[in-house]
Amino acid sequence: MEKHSLEKIISLAKRKGFIYQGSSIYGGLAGTWDYGPLGVTLKNNIKNIWWNQFVDSREDMYGMDASILMNHQVWEATGHVGAFHDPLVEDEITKKRYRADHLLEEAKIDITGMSIKDMDNTIKENSIKSPDGNNLGDVVQFNMMLKTEVGVTGGEDSISYLRPETAQGMFVNYKNVVDSFSPKLPFGLGQIGKAFRNEIAPRDFIFRTREFEQMEVEYFVHPESWKEHFELWQKEMWEFTKTIGLPQDLIHELEVGEGDRAHYSERTIDFEFDFPFGRKELYGLAYRTDYDLKKHMESSKEKLEYTDSATGEKFIPHVIEPSLGLDRTVLAVLTSAYTEDVVDDNPRTLLKLSKNIAPIQVAVFPLVKNKEDIVEKAREVYKVLKSSGLRVAFDTHGNVGKRYRRQDEIGTPYCVTVDYDSLEDGTVTLRERDSGKQERIKIEEVVDNI
Ligand code: GAP
Repeated sequence: MEKHSLEKIISLAKRKGFIYQGSSIYGGLAGTWDYGPLGVTLKNNIKNIWWNQFVDSREDMYGMDASILMNHQVWEATGHVGAFHDPLVEDEITKKRYRADHLLEEAKIDITGMSIKDMDNTIKENSIKSPDGNNLGDVVQFNMMLKTEVGVTGGEDSISYLRPETAQGMFVNYKNVVDSFSPKLPFGLGQIGKAFRNEIAPRDFIFRTREFEQMEVEYFVHPESWKEHFELWQKEMWEFTKTIGLPQDLIHELEVGEGDRAHYSERTIDFEFDFPFGRKELYGLAYRTDYDLKKHMESSKEKLEYTDSATGEKFIPHVIEPSLGLDRTVLAVLTSAYTEDVVDDNPRTLLKLSKNIAPIQVAVFPLVKNKEDIVEKAREVYKVLKSSGLRVAFDTHGNVGKRYRRQDEIGTPYCVTVDYDSLEDGTVTLRERDSGKQERIKIEEVVDNI
């Protein structure tokens, strides 16, 4: 794949109504982005595929939609208050703050397994400067949770956090779902929702933001069967990347070493993706053991054990967690779909989006907009396609060549043109985005062809 600069993709995303800078008329708010009309449809299409594959199509999965705000004890119990940190370092002159691990990586220093102390020493030993060329202070831990106050009384109990992962909304509801449905192990909870992190250095468009969406599963298993389920979810994650059309050769698995895993994980595989700015984490698959349920049981005093009704065995289930960032998925989709080529001697920009997720799957054009019977016929075709469940647009602006270019740029896989012959013989021109090939087919064959 030819790598195009992120700037080109950001520019197309803005111009075409996929993604805008957050609060842009006020100069923006760092680490926030707003999804426009095409962006939200693209995102919803991805969410629907995830929900269908990971929740709806399975008998062992239950959907959830938990609150973003949770009792502060949740985050104390799980260790997030004490350990959800990133290494921060400050420019001594400008006071700008940076991720120490990023500065080390940029200086081509391997940070695998490094502690905060190691990073501090390495920065000093190698005289690493800030991007502005100034000395850096000591490396310190920076907690990434966004704190807020809930209610009117104030005091410690009013403290809450915008959840930094959707996962805990499922752990704290584990007992509720067991009580309501008496599911047999293994079973899981799945949810899609917002998460918030006060990232020290939000960057690379929607790759690292302060507000983002996650699609997560917490899958509860018998402790002895965790390996088998870890592998099954690993396959599901690959399957998902195929369905949404991500080029498989741009995805790479990384076994995360002990020193680099999150505090709750005993095994993690990162799914990395070749973004224009390098190979970076797209998704994570973690074996969270019984860490979370155990911590919540100790802290809340609620019994969170599972009793096997056949054997009477009592234990805290272990957990496999496939965690997929939605915004990173959108970014991987956009950056890998972005293409520049030449069709019929005309240079063009196109998004090679899979028809499974393209915001518009087919656009219908009347060849000319001032011939009432052609426009009427085109409207008929539009209605037929729409009622078959396809995502359809109707476009009459500019000449047909311009309409093709417009649809190419937003990733519409097919265009249908209704012309004079359509009125005579009931055929239309079906044009395919990537090849630019056109064929004449009967109106009743359009849906099947697409
Ligand atoms: N519950 C596990 C968990 O939250 P994580 O590796 O910290 O694990 C999971 O996050 C996924 O969420 C990542 O693989 C990534 O896709 C996405 N993600 C994490 N931080 C993000 C950020 N600041 N901006 C956008 N996506 C993010």
